[in-house]
Amino acid sequence: MRLYIREMLDAQGAHLSFHTPGHKRAGEDITELCYSDSLLSPRGVIAAAEKDIAEILGAARSFILTDGSTCGIFSMLYALKAQGVRSLAFPESSHRSVSNACRALSLTPVPIPQTVRRGIPVQPSAGAIEAAVKSADALLLTSPDYYGFLAPMSEARQICATHAKPFIIDGAHGAHLHFTDMYAGKYADMWVDGVHKSLPALTQGAVVSAKTERWAAALREGVRTFRTTSPSYPIMASVEEAVKFPRNPAIEAAAEELKGRLGALENDDWTKIAIFFGAYADGAESALEAAGVYPEFNDKNYLMFYLSPCTEKEDLLRLEGLLQGLPRSSAEEAERGVIPIYSEE
Ligand SMILES: Cc1ncc(COP(=O)(O)O)c(C=O)c1O
Repeated sequence: MRLYIREMLDAQGAHLSFHTPGHKRAGEDITELCYSDSLLSPRGVIAAAEKDIAEILGAARSFILTDGSTCGIFSMLYALKAQGVRSLAFPESSHRSVSNACRALSLTPVPIPQTVRRGIPVQPSAGAIEAAVKSADALLLTSPDYYGFLAPMSEARQICATHAKPFIIDGAHGAHLHFTDMYAGKYADMWVDGVHKSLPALTQGAVVSAKTERWAAALREGVRTFRTTSPSYPIMASVEEAVKFPRNPAIEAAAEELKGRLGALENDDWTKIAIFFGAYADGAESALEAAGVYPEFNDKNYLMFYLSPCTEKEDLLRLEGLLQGLPRSSAEEAERGVIPIYSEE
């Protein structure tokens, strides 16, 4: 499969820069030039890349973002508002960009209550989703969540169809699932993929997609409203490469085996390994850091280790060796007495 943006960057000739950026170094970090296309009105390599991405993701239209999933969430909520939505149901633990966008766009939030188990907010049940959908104009779910649990997307799709309400998904942590039935794009009218989080894209690389032409037109206006007018070419190229990056079944299997050997939390997403350390969480994090190993986050109960198709098998083995030597609170303690803390970032 061709990598249109990368090929364009690699084919550049000698280059004297009298354009932005101000560092004046010829190279990949260029601006819109006669040969490099424009993210705002793509007709060349970016249009070709976005067309391929939409096809891979099962979308009518996909838009490359260089401003993270946050921009995708603002753009989707803008599109909803443009189509008459005035209130949005979403789980209490949703990312702050959801409530920020509601505030900016004057959408009324309809919180979906969540229970907490072992300190982790549990994905809302179909019943809780339906109750909220009845008193809102649209639904947003996050899938998978920070801890690797999927939302009940199939049930939510059905509920939204029954009540004729749009359904959008924050897939900031699920870009790697596009090969599977666990993928947001199989269920939602619009969804965002945080490509930089679980596929090999540069930080801030993301894609927002619409299932149908109707939503694509509204989403395009949203994207044009919120994204930067100076998109980074290295990020754009990395997003195209990451979406086209092949699945890595060997590391997927190795991750699931490792979870079993480590007694990790049983979740739905191979890229997220959650180990309960309880009172020992800070000590474990410090010991790992001293060995040059950095988890994604420490919520004071769990250490979360995030993988991707680029994770190496040897690195998993090294992690296993280090974790085996560290004290951990017991599973019973995990069940009994954890303080509900989770990341808002
Ligand atoms: C669930 C969720 N949604 C959205 C975002 C925003 O993504 P980004 O940082 O790419 O803008 C994050 C970031 O951590 C997130 O965890």
